[in-house]
Amino acid sequence: MAADKSFYLTTPIYYVNDAPHIGHAYTTVAGDVLTRWHRQRGESVWFLTGTDEHGQKVLNTAQSNNTKPQDWCDRLVDSAWKPVWQDLNIANDDFIRTTEKRHTIRVQNFLQGLKDAGHIYAGKFEGPYCIGCEEFKLPGDLDKGMCKIHSKPVEMLSEDNWFFKLSAFVGPLLEHYKSNPGACEPASARNEVISFLEGEVRDLSISRSTFDWGIPVPWDTKQVIYVWFDALLNYATAVGLGDEPDSEGGKKFAKTWPADVHLVGKDILRFHAIIWPAMLMAAGVAVPKKVFAHGWLLVGGEKMSKSKLTGIAPSDITKDFGVDAFRYYFLKAIPFGSDGSFSWEDMAARYTSELANDFGNLASRLIAMIEKYCDNKIPQVAKDNELAQSLTQTVKTADDAICALDFQGGINAIMDFCKQVNGYVTIKQPWVVAKDAANKAQLDEILYNTAESLRALAVLLHPVMPEVTEKLWQSLGASSLGAIGDQQISKVSNWGQLPAGSVVTKTEVLFPRLEEVK
Ligand code: MSP
Repeated sequence: MAADKSFYLTTPIYYVNDAPHIGHAYTTVAGDVLTRWHRQRGESVWFLTGTDEHGQKVLNTAQSNNTKPQDWCDRLVDSAWKPVWQDLNIANDDFIRTTEKRHTIRVQNFLQGLKDAGHIYAGKFEGPYCIGCEEFKLPGDLDKGMCKIHSKPVEMLSEDNWFFKLSAFVGPLLEHYKSNPGACEPASARNEVISFLEGEVRDLSISRSTFDWGIPVPWDTKQVIYVWFDALLNYATAVGLGDEPDSEGGKKFAKTWPADVHLVGKDILRFHAIIWPAMLMAAGVAVPKKVFAHGWLLVGGEKMSKSKLTGIAPSDITKDFGVDAFRYYFLKAIPFGSDGSFSWEDMAARYTSELANDFGNLASRLIAMIEKYCDNKIPQVAKDNELAQSLTQTVKTADDAICALDFQGGINAIMDFCKQVNGYVTIKQPWVVAKDAANKAQLDEILYNTAESLRALAVLLHPVMPEVTEKLWQSLGASSLGAIGDQQISKVSNWGQLPAGSVVTKTEVLFPRLEEVK
């Protein structure tokens, strides 16, 4: 492995049969927060997202819209997927589309390699298939003939296909998960994978012959490669899988592979934790370090989805609450790895108490007091030992939690520090201290400690809420310390960074009251 290996994180690539909803945004925002955090740890980072464009589901949607599948995909990617990620401030380094040549060629080469090595054979598939999942189903996956995930009838397929000897990898996969528990998280997901592997694992049909929207099987061009086999490879094709070691792609691959984290929803865990590593093992390529399965956003107790008409677009929320509150809410309110119900009431309550009151008000009160009592300038450097010590602990707790994908734990630690700073201001009562000019030194101390705490809060919350923290950074006159995104997590708790004399400026309110935005 290259010594300067990047921290490489991926999201699933999304089907382009429709525009993104908040379930998709949940995964992508989590990936964005985690990669921003790692960048602020000073690591080299590579963050990939993209779109899954082949298969029956996308083809059917394009046809029912009287559009050619490629045109449909181009339109959706340009008008919906890329703009939504931009609106949500997603800082991905690359965006892969499975219809791109860089992907299709590498997929064909990979498959040919598996065939040459004896991992592929001809067979007949007979059984149920869910187009919503794009998955060959087992009897236990169905409920009265319907897919349990989509509550829709399955198709009965009977096709001559090419098969991948998945069953040959059961032993190595079990060994892998038993000796590397961190390779599949949380523990509930790992247990599910292990018990699946301990059951009957069948070989996998990896081609389809009844439609042509896919990548042709290189030695049998009447068949297209099964959409999941094609899609899973995106994580590796995007960074140069199979390229000569000294080529550009080969160097990129050495720098990024294996992926550090594949973020996925729990519905697509088996593809990522069983089929994908088996494909890689067959090809002699390193398996990903971690597959992390998060839970579902529920609406009315069920998985939120467009096909069940419970889909909510990110803009439905951001138009009232703003992008930062959207990013904050889902990661703070739901333990990553568990299901969580979305409700407007909970969103509004947290917005008001945690963001507008605890964080936003603290910032606006401090700026107003520095304007009023200190002629707009950050006072002399001071140090409150209790706040400083607690900040050191906060940074450690938050860093440990976020690196372990416990976003809720990490944000809780940061917001607890914010509460502590509020408590400090309440107890010290700077507005009372200010009444007597003889107390100026004491007043300056209180205001410096508060400003310095806000500097730290801005940096720690930047990965979660890039926009408001940037505003706060400007407002505190902290730009002389460099760009906020360049501030290192490991240095946040070095007390006394905000230079005395920096000019503060009033900004617009960080989190406007909800009555005002509606
Ligand atoms: N195209 C496949 C993934 C291929 S990756 C090689 C796919 N796409 S998807 O668009 O249907 O879903 C992508 C992701 O969105 C999944 O991780 C899924 O769990 C997530 N979500 C879709 N609805 C969701 C919720 N209601 N809640 C949380 N995440 C959900 O599957």
